[in-house]
Amino acid sequence: MSAHGDPVPLQSRRSGALSGTAQVPGDKSISHRALILGAMAVGETKITGLLEGGDVLDTGRAMAALGAEVVRHGAGAWSVHGVGVGGFREPEQVIDCGNSGTGVRLLMGAVATHDMAVTFTGDASLNGRPMGRVTEPLSLFGTRAVGRAGARLPLTLVGAASPVPVRYATPVPSAQVKSAVLLAGLNAPGQTVVIEREATRDHSERMLAGFGAEITTRATDEGREITLTGRPELRPQTIAVPRDPSSAAFPVCAALIVEGSDVLVPNIGLNPTRAGLFETLREMGADLAYENPRDEGGEPVADLRARYSPGMKGIRVPPERAASMIDEYPILSVVAAFAEGVTDMPGVAELRVKESDRIDAMAAALRACGVTVEDGPDWWRVTGTGAGGVKGGATVAARLDHRIAMSALILGLATREPVTVDDAGPIATSFPIFEPLMTALGADLTKEIR
Ligand code: S3P
Repeated sequence: MSAHGDPVPLQSRRSGALSGTAQVPGDKSISHRALILGAMAVGETKITGLLEGGDVLDTGRAMAALGAEVVRHGAGAWSVHGVGVGGFREPEQVIDCGNSGTGVRLLMGAVATHDMAVTFTGDASLNGRPMGRVTEPLSLFGTRAVGRAGARLPLTLVGAASPVPVRYATPVPSAQVKSAVLLAGLNAPGQTVVIEREATRDHSERMLAGFGAEITTRATDEGREITLTGRPELRPQTIAVPRDPSSAAFPVCAALIVEGSDVLVPNIGLNPTRAGLFETLREMGADLAYENPRDEGGEPVADLRARYSPGMKGIRVPPERAASMIDEYPILSVVAAFAEGVTDMPGVAELRVKESDRIDAMAAALRACGVTVEDGPDWWRVTGTGAGGVKGGATVAARLDHRIAMSALILGLATREPVTVDDAGPIATSFPIFEPLMTALGADLTKEIR
């Protein structure tokens, strides 16, 4: 089932050379944070390039339910009139975060140190995902949570009336958990400290500093230690959201595996905590260039140029790189299927608790298309077919997971037989223009299933 309506099957077929420019949408992680911090500032934050995908729109509605004024002025152009740190009002209704783990986890943090109760829910995928990783550190502030078994949604948070600051070492590498604690720390007196063993995406830290919060990061023996001083007055900002590297991954990887392709993907955010896929592809021998590298709004940005790259080689992806490409393993596994030799992907237990169990979902998809995949609790391994090519000819279950749907459709652009996705609806959560954008490059995507 699609998140909002009937399933929409989509088929991809072997395509001729892809060419042209792919203007992918705004960064999902940064879009969520721009809306949330805008709502916690005093005055009007202006945002351009906001991702208008289902996940982010759900966060925008949540901000309005909490008392901020959220207005759309045109494509990607939004303003948020914030209520200030500590100024959220208790929402009248349940907050529905749809498919978005980032949305719900960041929102739980943002409301946790307000003296009010908020109930969260989501779709079948989100309601199956673990929330204890967030409710546990939030309990240290004095917040209470009552959810379904295993701290699953629907879940009610009763915010701390007199929050205390927290020092917390994240047990799993998660920017969502880190960000939830930092957002809760905004309305706690004193200093809230988060320590992460491995660096995860740092958009929250960068944006908090941009809004005028006192926040410092230092390397310690335990890992990255982030210290936030509570109860700042956040100053409204003008934010230009860079384009999403996780969305750019799809046209880039399509160009690498479809014969004769040459695709430009401009203005991509290349924050090092997000760019692990592109580094990996280059190590595999991809013809992938960073053109015109520059800095925009505190984030490194470049234009990516990807060309067809026969003869790529499988590699072992270093586990310490996992956090910087955690959402890109599904599409990497597709490229790995066309490479020569084995691609080893260790240290990725987190993939099992995303919108779906992404190792299981992609292993099933690739095996059905004739590719050898082995997997264990926190690792998987794809044996590439190299010059022999990939058979295809399967229907893949998207499992309410946008990245599984898109990865399977990119796979089908280069397999001998078509690949069908049972429901492309979830793609709208992060990349609503995926189908027209890929079609304009020359991809053969169709609802006429053969
Ligand atoms: C995100 C963090 C990651 C990532 C997700 C977006 C964020 O999740 O998978 O798509 O914006 O903070 P985890 O924090 O669970 O690793």
